[in-house]
Amino acid sequence: MKEKGFPEGFLWGGATAANQCEGAWNIDGKGFSTADMVQYYTKEESKGKNMETVPRQEIEEILAGHREGYNYPKRRGIDFYHRYQEDIALLAEMGFKIFRMSINWARIYPNGDDEQPNEQGLQFYDNVFDECAKYGIQPLVTLSHYETPLHLALSINGWYDRRMIDYFLRYCKTVFTRYKGKVKYWMTFNEINMMLNLPFTAGGVFIETCEHEKQAKYQAIHHQFLGSALATKLAHDIIPDVQVGCMLGITHTYPDTSDPMDALLSQKANRNNYFFVDVQSKGEYPTYIFEEWKRDGIEVAMEPGDLELLKENTVDYISFSYYYTMSVSKRALGDNSGANGLPDFGIPVVPNPHLKRTDWGFQIDPIGMRIIINELWDRYHKPIFIAENGMGAHDVLEADGKVHDDYRIAYLKAHIEQMKEAIRDGANVFGYTSWGCIDIISAGTSEMSKRYGYIYVDQDDEGNGSLKRYKKDSFAWYQRVIASNGEELGD
Ligand code: BG6
Repeated sequence: MKEKGFPEGFLWGGATAANQCEGAWNIDGKGFSTADMVQYYTKEESKGKNMETVPRQEIEEILAGHREGYNYPKRRGIDFYHRYQEDIALLAEMGFKIFRMSINWARIYPNGDDEQPNEQGLQFYDNVFDECAKYGIQPLVTLSHYETPLHLALSINGWYDRRMIDYFLRYCKTVFTRYKGKVKYWMTFNEINMMLNLPFTAGGVFIETCEHEKQAKYQAIHHQFLGSALATKLAHDIIPDVQVGCMLGITHTYPDTSDPMDALLSQKANRNNYFFVDVQSKGEYPTYIFEEWKRDGIEVAMEPGDLELLKENTVDYISFSYYYTMSVSKRALGDNSGANGLPDFGIPVVPNPHLKRTDWGFQIDPIGMRIIINELWDRYHKPIFIAENGMGAHDVLEADGKVHDDYRIAYLKAHIEQMKEAIRDGANVFGYTSWGCIDIISAGTSEMSKRYGYIYVDQDDEGNGSLKRYKKDSFAWYQRVIASNGEELGD
């Protein structure tokens, strides 16, 4: 009997986000998004800084014109805004079935609270979707990928304020109605769990201005849950056959040893992730969170009907991004230094001696991805989509225009093999979009030199370069993977 492989019609593709690739940050009526305020720091300058967070005071200085001449790479991206036709043609040449991208909310509603949408912004995405359709590529659209309209951050402190739900729904209604014949797959919030770690990035919240930090984060999360549930309902009402998913940034956490205390710490760390899927997929807050809030003196304001609304409007599928796993140990309790480059986000992380790392210190763990898929399938029994996975690396463009990225091929191959194993284990996985299919600006460090793509873009961290696109060795490799529906992964 032939071994079970990827199901027929499996959605192979790649992923991007508007704020990291479009550029054209102030063109055709677009307003500022939070990402436009994020500066690039050299390695030296970035020591000890949380680079995805911009304090309110700094933004006020930027807006007052006191920080001219600094480097804001997300404003220029890779100029996808003007080059989308060439880029989509390259994705089509690889055989893409699906292209994950986001709509930049501030292109549609420049301030977020405008009465009318910006027609030029709407037209741009019409053009992109039409271009995809030319090649039979399905777009998969993230509604909010780290790009809250800046005005909403400044005027109401982003998702901390319940009014965000209405503004978000106004935007969702506009894009669902406009693109209902063109986009079937949607995601509400990219890596919604990042609100716990990066509230400015994930929801335009200036946490330094809030009295009770943890309470403010959970309040904002509750508002995003409601926004997501109501957007799901709206999409179901407006678009026939629509599929709306949640999206989680998973860093599955292992116990470092068989010490039960380490196991307990890992369970706690994993709950920080699965908590989000519990609410978005089962429609229920897990009971332990209410106990935790009580212990920490947190009161999350909820209105009558909120919990019913979450229960009635759960997602159609579950998606996640996957880069690495972490390990925790009671040895590291109280030590906030992280594990040599891995973010610790308040949990006692230690390095995993069994895993190699990328240039940026991410622990490479293909089996970790299989574990997560199985865990999600066992817990929720909803179709699973892998929305991001990949290896950021320093690629070298050779004089002959080639990029030999065998390390990337090895990384992706190993992960795809484990995804296949998870399917053999019984999980329902229906698609895979590797991250940054074309090189784009890094979300975490704003570097151009942290590259994930099959397509090299000639630009450096300072924005110098021709922006010319080159096919890396991984381009032809992925083309074969897609053509063989994941059967030909190379040696
Ligand atoms: C995810 C984000 O966290 O990881 C992407 O959804 C991001 O936006 C990706 O680019 C890789 O992270 P980084 O920091 O290497 O760009």
